[in-house]
Amino acid sequence: MSEFVLEMRDIVKRFPGVLAVNKAQLDLRPGEAHCLVGENGAGKSTLMKILAGALQMDSGEIRLSGEPVHINSPHHAQQLGVSMIYQEFNLSPYLSVAENIFLGREPRLGRTPLVNWREMYGNARELLARIRVNLDVRKPVNECSVAQQQMVEIAKALSFNSKIIVMDEPSATLTDHELRALFELIAELKKDGIGMIYISHRLEEIFEIGDRVTVMRDGQYIGTHPVSETSREDIIRMMVGRELTDEFPKIVCERGEERLRVEGLRREGAFEDVSFSLHTGEITGLTGLVGAGRTEVARAIFGADRIDGGQIYLDGEAVTVRSPQDAIRQGVGLLTEDRKNQGLVLGMTVRENTTLANLKSLVRFLFVNRGREREIAEKYVHDLGIKTPSIEQAAQNLSGGNQQKVVLAKWLFTDSRVLIFDEPTRGIDVGAKVEIYKLMNELVRRDVCILMISSELPEVLGMCDRILVMHEGRLAGELPRWDASQEAIMRLATGSALAEAG
Ligand SMILES: Nc1ncnc2c1ncn2[C@@H]1O[C@H](COP(=O)(O)OP(=O)(O)OP(=O)(O)O)[C@@H](O)[C@H]1O
Ligand SMILES: [Mg+2]
Repeated sequence: MSEFVLEMRDIVKRFPGVLAVNKAQLDLRPGEAHCLVGENGAGKSTLMKILAGALQMDSGEIRLSGEPVHINSPHHAQQLGVSMIYQEFNLSPYLSVAENIFLGREPRLGRTPLVNWREMYGNARELLARIRVNLDVRKPVNECSVAQQQMVEIAKALSFNSKIIVMDEPSATLTDHELRALFELIAELKKDGIGMIYISHRLEEIFEIGDRVTVMRDGQYIGTHPVSETSREDIIRMMVGRELTDEFPKIVCERGEERLRVEGLRREGAFEDVSFSLHTGEITGLTGLVGAGRTEVARAIFGADRIDGGQIYLDGEAVTVRSPQDAIRQGVGLLTEDRKNQGLVLGMTVRENTTLANLKSLVRFLFVNRGREREIAEKYVHDLGIKTPSIEQAAQNLSGGNQQKVVLAKWLFTDSRVLIFDEPTRGIDVGAKVEIYKLMNELVRRDVCILMISSELPEVLGMCDRILVMHEGRLAGELPRWDASQEAIMRLATGSALAEAG
């Protein structure tokens, strides 16, 4: 009997023009949390999709508890005890929690084709109780929060008696509180002997829950280490292949004139009395706990949501922003946090996505100047280090982080005067983050004024000149760069500063 529940050796997977996984390997012990890290496009998701039966490898070997297996479909993988929770969930939105867990395996009433709802709800409740989740099993999944959907996926994995659970960037969309709950659950599952493979770009998480960490680069296996014997610097060096000297390459510029100002902005049920201004020469941060209303404020300024009160000023003049098109016309851009739904057209190529928001600048006599369009797309692919075989690749074939860079390229090409970035580096690897920060520096130098919404305090502290903090739909305070600290931000974000003052 092997000490490993899983051994993957010399796995190779090629896509047209891309060697996505090149002799990769990974093994997993029962009850272990094994972190898998690497730059965007390194091949992490592909390797795991092979394990989960969603993709077929070209060559290589997979053993489960020492036995060689050929995993030929997701269904087969589940039967073998392997479940994967994808970067984008796989649930049916209109079905209930219980139906999703038992989809295709609903318990029947005797020998009839009728579903035994009582039994199904009972079983679902039991599973959720096992992972200590309090959730109505009759609730449609589209009414559940992201964290709840994730828990449904985990319950589903357990219902298959999985011995291996793969989680692909599970933390990217969770609040701090939900992340705690996930970590507790992972600790429980470990005790039950379940092996977990955990993909994340937030390296601090490795040190919290990981037993071992494996690093991939360019599809290849770089190495595996016990977490207790490795450091953040070691991991970064293995990931990017060089020393990363400065994670936050901040350049402080002189504060310029006011570009955008909002006064008393209000939207029923979302935020109230929000006033602040953005200046050229500055990156202004907007932070707070998830759900504090940050994204809502951004959407309102961008004309995506109606406002119920207040005024927006651009260069000192009162403006009305009726729609996102209107905002773009006035030079305001928003890089949304939900790229999949709002930022990219997945079926279109990298080139088409890049020029989408500003196609009119390429039109002459009714025709798009294709040569110029290609030049621009090539330039951004180069500048942002977008990993793709060509600009004609469909966006859906890029890795998660590289899709995000395409959205960024799209906004850089719009000549915006104000850019709002909502969680710009979520899902982006450490090396590429630095490139994005440098790009922000460059934008500031070009007099673009930036509002950066972020939950990652090190990034807010590292890159912003001023930090606005929201709490429950209101601005709780503003901190200048020199006076900001994690503690000061958290005091404002949690409302304890207000309590002290009151
Ligand atoms: N269906 C596909 N068709 C063509 N190329 C693909 C396909 N899926 C992935 N790739 C390519 O394979 C490589 C590895 O992608 P993968 O999604 O495994 O990266 P990743 O390590 O998960 O990155 P990220 O951290 O950005 O999620 C990338 O270059 C990607 O563009
Ligand atoms: Mg991925």
